[in-house]
Amino acid sequence: MYKEIGINISRIKKNLEELSKFNATPGKGLTRLPFTKEAKEATEYIIKEMKGIGLDVRQDGAGSIIGRREGKKKDASVIMIGSHYDSVKNGGNFDGIAGIVAGLELIRAMGENDISTNSPIEIIATNDEEGVRFGDGFFGTRAIAGQLTQEEIAACKDAEGISIAQAMEAYGLDPKDIHLAARTPESIKAFFEIHVEQGPILEVNKKEIGLVQYIVGMHRFKVTIKGRPDHAGTTPMDMRIDPLDAASYVISKISGMAKAVGEGTVATVGALEVFPGAVNIVPSEVKFTVDVRSKKQEYIASVTQQIHEALKEVAQRMGVEYEIIEKLNVAPVKLSEKLMDLMKKNCEKLGFSKEIMLSGAGHDSLVMSEITDVGLIFVPSKNGRSHCPEEWTDYEAFKKGIEVVYHTILDIDQG
Ligand code: GLV
Ligand code: MN
Ligand code: MN
Repeated sequence: MYKEIGINISRIKKNLEELSKFNATPGKGLTRLPFTKEAKEATEYIIKEMKGIGLDVRQDGAGSIIGRREGKKKDASVIMIGSHYDSVKNGGNFDGIAGIVAGLELIRAMGENDISTNSPIEIIATNDEEGVRFGDGFFGTRAIAGQLTQEEIAACKDAEGISIAQAMEAYGLDPKDIHLAARTPESIKAFFEIHVEQGPILEVNKKEIGLVQYIVGMHRFKVTIKGRPDHAGTTPMDMRIDPLDAASYVISKISGMAKAVGEGTVATVGALEVFPGAVNIVPSEVKFTVDVRSKKQEYIASVTQQIHEALKEVAQRMGVEYEIIEKLNVAPVKLSEKLMDLMKKNCEKLGFSKEIMLSGAGHDSLVMSEITDVGLIFVPSKNGRSHCPEEWTDYEAFKKGIEVVYHTILDIDQG
């Protein structure tokens, strides 16, 4: 048995409640998109909290906030814990941000228990994991992994046509410095992320902790279909080039494609824009997003290929033109077995029931696993709800997740 480490639920509650105020849509769920006023306010709060517990704080080239607690060994590789501070549109108060708050509480407890580690420990609050504004995702962690290019940040634009590079400049970051956020694999010993499950499995199976073994891969792209704007009353049906008619045909096939591939493969068209968007004009142009996920890369490729074929067929048949802009393509991963074994052992020692899980949601852990060992811990979501205002996790659940990570960090630090 371990002795009680003194995780304080009221501090977790206070941090989460305060952070929920940095929100562009009060009363309609949480909206905190990257490089906005709300994002800046949330980072200022996080910086203040980090400084309050004695961390050295900096913002990296991608807008992620990093608070560092030095270790005893000079030049030892760092143990990181964190998650993202951005949100979806009209989402909840836990997705991402709870992992940052958990990290803060873990470090407070280490201080109060007079623990000094060999490795430095960093809490990281990553930027733009969700990819809602620009359609990409994992921005902060892809910068850490050295995967972002100047071409991508200039080309990737939001619905207003503002590129990531322009948004960075307006936010006070120099896009040319993005490469400075990169870290070497040798410099990071491990990355831990405590996250709400966002699904019903832990609650239904009455388990306290989810230990994630696999995270699905994800392919995101945006399709533009161009037709010809015409009068909706005077243009006969067989003389139109209607891009929405073409898009509807393709979109109607997508769910069937994912179901046919099976094994949990999913495909979603989550955003659709119609131009010019009037009741009496045959549209000139339609844009829609596609997000395909699966635990197997070949399943993602198969659905993508079928969507390409459907677009080609409809273009020939209806006379529309189309373009596909790639946004994100990350392979499924299996997370560290070594950390999994330690976390299992710690769940047992702490007396917590556990479930070994697949994550259907994307997480910073997915990208971090390309450069270091990753431990991703889920805590139960009430009614499995997430990406909506109803998102809720009991504060006590975080205490358990933090305890598992706290002891696992000490294991790897001493091991
Ligand atoms: C992020 O939460 C995602 O899975 O889209
Ligand atoms: Mn999310
Ligand atoms: Mn998240």
